[in-house]
Amino acid sequence: MKDKIVVITGASSGIGEATAKKLAEAGAKLVLIARREDRLQTLAQKLMDEYQTESMVVQLDITDRSAVLEAFENIISAMGRVDVLVNNAGLMPVSYLDKLKIDEWDRMIDVNLKGLLYCIAGVLPQMKTQGGGHIVNVSSVAGRRVWPGFAVYNATKFGVTALSEAMRMELTPKMNIKVTVIEPGAVATELTQTITDSDILEDFGKRSVTPLQAQDIANAIYYAVSQPNEVMVSEVLVMPRSQM
Ligand SMILES: NC(=O)c1ccc[n+]([C@@H]2O[C@H](COP(=O)([O-])OP(=O)(O)OC[C@H]3O[C@@H](n4cnc5c(N)ncnc54)[C@H](OP(=O)(O)O)[C@@H]3O)[C@@H](O)[C@H]2O)c1
Repeated sequence: MKDKIVVITGASSGIGEATAKKLAEAGAKLVLIARREDRLQTLAQKLMDEYQTESMVVQLDITDRSAVLEAFENIISAMGRVDVLVNNAGLMPVSYLDKLKIDEWDRMIDVNLKGLLYCIAGVLPQMKTQGGGHIVNVSSVAGRRVWPGFAVYNATKFGVTALSEAMRMELTPKMNIKVTVIEPGAVATELTQTITDSDILEDFGKRSVTPLQAQDIANAIYYAVSQPNEVMVSEVLVMPRSQM
C-alpha cells in the first residue's frame, strides 16, 4: 500500500474512519471525504501524528452530483492519480413501510446508491487513463438478506451488490479495475443514529447481537486492497459470531 492514493467516502466516522487509520498505517496516502469537515480535520491530524502522513480533506455531500464530479477533478489534479476508491458513505434510517417515511427512503437511495454511483463516475475516467485501479463498494449483509423494516435499505444494498457484480464484468477484464464488495453484519458505529421509527428502535433494543467493531471491517478492506495484482477479492461477508 506504500504511497498508494486511496479515496475514502464517509471517512468522518465508523468504518470509513477506521479504514483510513488502517491504510495510513500501511503507508497509503489518504483523501478523506464526508460532510463533517471538523471530524475529517481531526482525523487528518491524527494520521499525521501517528503515521506522519499528510491527508487531503474534502468536505462533500455525495448526493450533489456536480459537486462530486468537481471534487474528483480537484483530487486528481492534486494527487495525480487514484489507486483505490473506498465507496463507504451510507446511512440507514430504517422504518416499517406503512410509516411512509418517504423522505428517509429518498435519502437512502440518494446517498447509498446515487451518491456511490457519482463517486464511481468521478474516478472511472482517471482509472481508465492510468491503466487500472481498485473500487471497493461497502454494501452489507442487507445486500444479501432481507428483514421487515429494512425494505428500502435492503433495496439500496442489494443494488450496490448487483452493481458491483456488473462492474466486475465490465471494468476488470477490459480496464484492469478491480472491484470488491464488502458486506458487514452489525457493526458498532453511528449508523443507527438516523433511525426515527420508534417501533424499529424498540425491536433493535431486544436484539442480542454483539456487534463487530469498525476496525474489523477496516481489516477486511485492507485484506482486499493489499493483495497482489493478479488476485481479486470479489466479495467479503463479515459477520458477528452472534448474528443469525
Ligand atoms: N454499522 C453497521 O452495522 C453496518 C453494517 C453493514 C454495512 N454498513 C455500511 O457501512 C458504511 C459506513 O457506515 P458506518 O457503519 O461506518 O456508519 P457511520 O459511522 O454513520 O458512517 C457513515 C459515514 O457516511 C457519511 N455520509 C453520510 N451521508 C453522506 C453524504 N451525503 N455525503 C458524504 N458522506 C456522507 C458520514 O459522514 P458525514 O455525516 O460527516 O457526511 C459518515 O462518515 C455504510 O455504507 C453502511 O451502510 C454498516
